[in-house]
Amino acid sequence: MFNGTKELALEPLFHYGDLRRKSTKANGFAGQDILSVSQFDRESLAYVFARAHEMRQMVETIGYADLLKGYVLACLFYEPSTRTSASFIAAMERLGGSVIPITQGVQFSSVAKGETLADTVRTLEQYADVIVLRHPEIGSARIAADYAGVPVINAGDGAGEHPTQALLDLFTIQEELGAIDGLKIAMVGDLRYGRTVHSLTKLLTLYDVSLRFVSPEILRLPLVLMNEVKDAGLDVRETHDVADVIETADVLYVTRVQKERFTDLAQYEEVKGYYEITAELMQRAKPKMIVMHPLPRVGEIHYAVDSDPRAAYFRQVRNGMYIRMALLAMVLGKA
Ligand code: NCD
Repeated sequence: MFNGTKELALEPLFHYGDLRRKSTKANGFAGQDILSVSQFDRESLAYVFARAHEMRQMVETIGYADLLKGYVLACLFYEPSTRTSASFIAAMERLGGSVIPITQGVQFSSVAKGETLADTVRTLEQYADVIVLRHPEIGSARIAADYAGVPVINAGDGAGEHPTQALLDLFTIQEELGAIDGLKIAMVGDLRYGRTVHSLTKLLTLYDVSLRFVSPEILRLPLVLMNEVKDAGLDVRETHDVADVIETADVLYVTRVQKERFTDLAQYEEVKGYYEITAELMQRAKPKMIVMHPLPRVGEIHYAVDSDPRAAYFRQVRNGMYIRMALLAMVLGKA
């Protein structure tokens, strides 16, 4: 299944007992839901990143472990997803667990109106040890978690949060640039509806970073979040122009305009092509900066940028699998 690496798993080179001894903090996440980045502090982030780093080493050396053998994940997606669902499936399978993927034909029914989500999670928990949920309504993951007796992991609740994406984003910054404190991080695009931006911004308030928010007027970061950033005492500025940040940014975090969240499609048409990161623009950027994107992209980053070593978005995708391996092992009490 994993290019011939699986046989090696019979004689693991990687000892999970060591992982536990290396832990600096007892895992407070066993049996817990992961709903928001607000559940994390710097210490628990360091713990997750250390586990994810070990997952990377394990995958790069033997590809597979049986830490979660016998465990079942229900992957319940009410919104389209390629990366996030595949990433959770790969994470579970690389740790020897199995998955019930529910991604097709799931009818979205307003949580506020009916019991559908509650009944669905109460059904799935009869089969599965952990549930990953993506749903178009803000707060849906919280509701699912209230009903489920097994851990629920929020894989995106409408324009609300996307905590596992924010963890993998931050992990990528650390893996690529060595540290997070002291960096200048520019977020570009749909800061209003982009849940990955919301979650990452919240996490960054725990660090000593400068933030630059680059968006058209109608897609500015929600005020409540901007206030959180200011209350945290961070150096923060907003601009409409990517040229204002390209020369000084250490991280350029580019996002797609979230078409599905617009009620007025004419407004979407007005802003959809607002930013394009081109190879020419990249010539003005620092030699050691990185370009990130949660993907999918719809034209914001030109394909010509992909061969630039600073283009980190596909490495970012891979990091997602390591982070989700770490989180699954943690909530199942195995890391
Ligand atoms: C993001 C999402 O779903 O919020 N994608 C992802 O999880 N990788 C970003 C997006 O859809 O634009």
